[in-house]
Amino acid sequence: MQKTPKITIIIKIILLLLSSFSVLIPAFAKEGMWIPATLKDREKDMKGWGLKLPVEKLYNENGTGLNNAVVLFGRGCTGEIISPEGLVLTNHHCGYGSVQGISSADKDYFANGFFAGNRNEEIPCPGLTVTFVRRMENVTDKILNGINDNLPDEVRDSLIAMKTASVEKEYAKAAHLNASIKPYYDGNQFWVALTETYRDIRLVGFPPNGIGAFGGDVENWVWPRHTGDFSMFRVYAGADNKPADYARENKPYHTDQFFKINCSGYKEGDFTMVYGFPGTTQEYISSYELKQVSSITDPIAIAARTRRLDVWSRHMSASRAVFLQYTSKRAGVANSWKKWQGEVRGLDVNNVTAKKKAFEQSFQKWANGQKNTAYKTLLKQIRKEAETADKLITEDQYNKEVALGVELIQQGASFERLVQCFRLHLPDRELQDTLSKVVNSMAGFYKNYDVATDKDVFKSLMAFYFSKFGAWLPAAFETQYLVHNRDFSAWANDLYSTTILASPELLKSFAANATTADSVRLKYDPAWQLFDALNTFRKQQILPRLKDYYTRMRYLDRLYMKAQMAMQQNKAFYPNANLTLRLTYGKVSGLDPDGPAPYSFQTTLGEAATLDDTTRDIFTVPKKLKELYRNQDYGRWGVNGQMPLAFIASNHTSGGNSGSPVLNANGELIGTNFDRAYEGTMSDYYFDPNRCRNISVDIRYTLFIVEKFGGAKWLIDEMSITPETRSLKGTTH
Ligand code: ARG
Ligand code: GLU
Repeated sequence: MQKTPKITIIIKIILLLLSSFSVLIPAFAKEGMWIPATLKDREKDMKGWGLKLPVEKLYNENGTGLNNAVVLFGRGCTGEIISPEGLVLTNHHCGYGSVQGISSADKDYFANGFFAGNRNEEIPCPGLTVTFVRRMENVTDKILNGINDNLPDEVRDSLIAMKTASVEKEYAKAAHLNASIKPYYDGNQFWVALTETYRDIRLVGFPPNGIGAFGGDVENWVWPRHTGDFSMFRVYAGADNKPADYARENKPYHTDQFFKINCSGYKEGDFTMVYGFPGTTQEYISSYELKQVSSITDPIAIAARTRRLDVWSRHMSASRAVFLQYTSKRAGVANSWKKWQGEVRGLDVNNVTAKKKAFEQSFQKWANGQKNTAYKTLLKQIRKEAETADKLITEDQYNKEVALGVELIQQGASFERLVQCFRLHLPDRELQDTLSKVVNSMAGFYKNYDVATDKDVFKSLMAFYFSKFGAWLPAAFETQYLVHNRDFSAWANDLYSTTILASPELLKSFAANATTADSVRLKYDPAWQLFDALNTFRKQQILPRLKDYYTRMRYLDRLYMKAQMAMQQNKAFYPNANLTLRLTYGKVSGLDPDGPAPYSFQTTLGEAATLDDTTRDIFTVPKKLKELYRNQDYGRWGVNGQMPLAFIASNHTSGGNSGSPVLNANGELIGTNFDRAYEGTMSDYYFDPNRCRNISVDIRYTLFIVEKFGGAKWLIDEMSITPETRSLKGTTH
């Protein structure tokens, strides 16, 4: 039916009203990752948003703050303490690498899951650590005292490095803790963190991939989401409750600071906080630096990884052994690959470059009127530096993502250690011992290496390297390519059957029988030649120039940050993420870029069940879970016949926030953060309140899986959970 002009006008007016109205409605989002020790400055705002707790409860220095219940899990995730006996909750994908280390074909925890039946059954995870932040302090004055903006970059850097080391020592000694100082606000401030790292960590509970990685890479970075992305570990301590090396008789870490759990649910608009360790953001960079991300590094990495992942997937679905070898690697490679795609799209859809450029214009106007003449030329300098570096950055991105995307070539780095053994001029016997030691240390690599898979990766990536690169290729690559008549298959066959790097057996026997004369064999190894040519070129021609560029840029970025803060004195600036403890707050809030979708802030097990597809690994709901679903056997965790699964809110999070506690207005645990929605992955550069959402597993789903699926009620018993009985009036749809 044709609309009459009148109706069109009315619709237009309504739309206009709606759009101006939406400006008046406070956006359900709050940009910022705040330093816990500065929360006092945010308290008023947080209370206005719904916080019902004094901020001293969230962070304080006398040992009673919840900062003592948030941990850096491993080297890049967050975890939370949820019992007085050191029980840690984090993501499934954060425990993945450690679980791979203790899994095997007959103990396939990815397929079957693992839930300890008691403490004796908890499994030690060698190498895994958990770090507590006891206190943070602003030490800017101590570090920058006597250092002004006019010092040459290198002098400034070395002075700062010296002072950092001595102030760290001073703090560590006084507090009997580890002290680490990092720059904030791009080097305009410095803070020390006093930390404790525990190193006897044991696996307690890990759902099978059919729950913990449900939806796999298809649902990764996507809302709506149905992944029970959690796992549980326990921190063990020595007799004095302090960090200790692994020992059977170590005791669970005992503490009064752990998160109480709240199971009464949440509704749209409810206040939430995420407490954790976001890794890297660059919210204040210029349009010129942003362009390097959106049009150089992201696109090259995406294209190269698409090829690598295609090959890996093919081989992984053909063999369970290859699947087990590559599953952890694949998850990591695919994760960034997808995020970058969302990032490029989000930067584009939001016109972030244009917004940055507009800001730069007003900045320039402001700078022109400033006494500090350095500010006047700042953007011009940044532009010049960035544009000169574009080519270098392009080249190195190809080297890193394409050439070094081949595991065989990357493995050349270990090979170099063999070459070095020959340089020691040892008698044969000792040479053999030293070589064998190096070869043994490569066992971890070969455990997860499949030659046939990597050979196909080589073919695919080399075709890309040669077709797109143009400007320059390391000589050894050119030569080998030409020798094989520009035939990538012939080249690959020859390479992988000749090099001793492709076979741990060959390497072992080489090491055991080597004599001084054999150094020649290494020198002529074709895989080593590729690595060596690439490595030498990077070291001589690229990396020093890149390093200089980044040093100069760091200096300019620091000034730019300082200038932006001087220009906008009423704006509350938060420092870029730097893998230190931060708190961010927002509200439970749906996301539906295509139109209104009530309740879209939450998913349920019922929705996961409708996705069940036994022909696809990643969408196969485990039998036992299906049974629980069919019987609606949710224990005290279900609500009105439904089992809440995941939810989204508008907290400003980043990589590293995986596993972070998601808290309600009273600081009680309601979920575990594990992802962001695709539409908002550009938030590391630009936060859009309408599109940026963090995704969390509902704590009730976690507890349901632990108790009903894992049969580990003994774990529930050590937690503190309100309400004590099943709530009938929870919120779900
Ligand atoms: N995207 C999430 C993060 O950045 C989850 C990654 C793990 N999941 C996966 N399917 N690879 O860590
Ligand atoms: N999954 C991410 C991590 O490992 C968190 C998601 C994000 O980047 O926001 O930290």
